[in-house]
Amino acid sequence: MSEPCSLIIFGATGNLATHKLLPALYHIEAAGRLDPGSRILGFGRRDWSDADWQEAVREVLSERIGGRVDAEALDRLLSRLRFLAGDLEQAADFARLAERLRADDDLPDNLVFYLAVAPKHYGDIVDRLAANGLNAQEAGWSRLVVEKPFGFDLESASILDQRLQRCFTEDQIYRIDHYLGKSTVQNILVFRFANLMLEPLWNRNYIDHVQISHAEARGIEERAGFYDGVGAMRDMIQSHLLQMLALVAMEPPPSLDAEALRDEKVKVLRSIRPIPREAVHAQAFRAQYGPGRSGDAKLAGYLEEPGVGHNSTTETYAALKLYIDNWRWRNVPFYLRTGKRLGETRSLIAIRFKHPPQQLFRSTAIEQLKPNWLLLNIQPNECMRIEIQVKQPGLEMRAQTERLDASSCTLPPEHIDAYEALILDVIEGDHTHFLRYDEVDWAWRVVDPILKLWATERDFIHTYPAGSWGPAEASRLFDREDQEWRNAM
Ligand SMILES: NC(=O)c1ccc[n+]([C@@H]2O[C@H](COP(=O)([O-])OP(=O)(O)OC[C@H]3O[C@@H](n4cnc5c(N)ncnc54)[C@H](OP(=O)(O)O)[C@@H]3O)[C@@H](O)[C@H]2O)c1
Repeated sequence: MSEPCSLIIFGATGNLATHKLLPALYHIEAAGRLDPGSRILGFGRRDWSDADWQEAVREVLSERIGGRVDAEALDRLLSRLRFLAGDLEQAADFARLAERLRADDDLPDNLVFYLAVAPKHYGDIVDRLAANGLNAQEAGWSRLVVEKPFGFDLESASILDQRLQRCFTEDQIYRIDHYLGKSTVQNILVFRFANLMLEPLWNRNYIDHVQISHAEARGIEERAGFYDGVGAMRDMIQSHLLQMLALVAMEPPPSLDAEALRDEKVKVLRSIRPIPREAVHAQAFRAQYGPGRSGDAKLAGYLEEPGVGHNSTTETYAALKLYIDNWRWRNVPFYLRTGKRLGETRSLIAIRFKHPPQQLFRSTAIEQLKPNWLLLNIQPNECMRIEIQVKQPGLEMRAQTERLDASSCTLPPEHIDAYEALILDVIEGDHTHFLRYDEVDWAWRVVDPILKLWATERDFIHTYPAGSWGPAEASRLFDREDQEWRNAM
């Protein structure tokens, strides 16, 4: 059981709070992991009472969780909800917030401030919290949760961080990358470091290349206001995909302590070979979805989506080739790829091993041995698969691929999202699955030169049909002809 706290959600009526945070809080409640004294205070500009917010949340959660909802747990959660009508742009509303937190005995002194609002508000919110003494850790602790994107580029991330650190210390700040709350992503650590047989193979002698993909079947839907001008490289690669790369490539940390783990991730990010301007086109590729189809349904192109500028060159697809210049990974390409309106929704880490020597089978019907693959599927379902070569049944010496699946592959997708674990970590003061600023900084350094060049090239962008697996031209990143994108498990 965690300590009692007041969780203050700025942006309580927004998409993130409604679709991610409140369902996660419901699951935490249903699991009995919230202290009975904990309260959740929504801050928003609607003129709502506590009861109005409780009713709105009841409706959303009942619809979202449907028949699986545990009525008692839902009632318990709703009884914790309080609402404070306030505007982020009004300093006086923060004074009222501070007053309520101090005066209301029902609200515990341990404070979590969750910034579920657009990043442009982050700086003012922390200044106003500090101006009202809400950053001080006197009566209880005070923690700040910051959502991605953390900055728009290297420079803006640094400015934002300086502003946060003027008011909150590093150990009070929890920078979320919600991928780090997913159990398969955490499983990379267990899989790599709890199995002795992998370590001897986990290097440039045996691994041909690594692919890390995040594909979404959805388009940008109603989120042009956020997405246009941001694009796939900032939205996905700078954060989630580089974090996954760091976990796949890092050295074993001396402990699972947050600092030890984050030190190792930073070492990987720092070892990524910088991409000079003249190498950007050889190592990075971008494209945008055009009109297409999914079955019989017609899909609009990006430029036809509501709110998108008619000449936008924002990329909805980005692919990147990186090299990690250290002893373990020298010259092993890491291919990162993400896109919207692709063939299906899937996040996959695919590790391809080198070809074994063919000599032994030269006089047989085996023409070319296929290499081994190790696949870690992160969503929609969590699954691990190893592909090995075995003899085909029959009289001839032929090989076929056998797939060894973990038993978890047959389970339906989890209802528990990453946010459950992350919210509990914040309440318990565990930074392990949150980003330290130097991780964010080094990740920006990787993509910044690409973004800078792309920002100057605004007259052309490749396109791909919505519903396809992206443009064929993206294959030009591969080092060799026998490498290709792995779309499916
Ligand atoms: N949505 C996701 O799945 C997701 C995933 C990862 C990260 N994030 C990040 O999370 C943050 C929030 O995203 P979102 O999708 O939830 O955005 P959103 O749906 O636009 O919600 C924004 C929230 O901010 C509130 N707000 C805006 N201006 C305000 C003001 N002056 N005073 C008080 N409240 C104000 C809005 O209140 P009103 O209802 O009154 O407009 C709304 O509750 C962003 O930084 C985003 O990048 C979101």
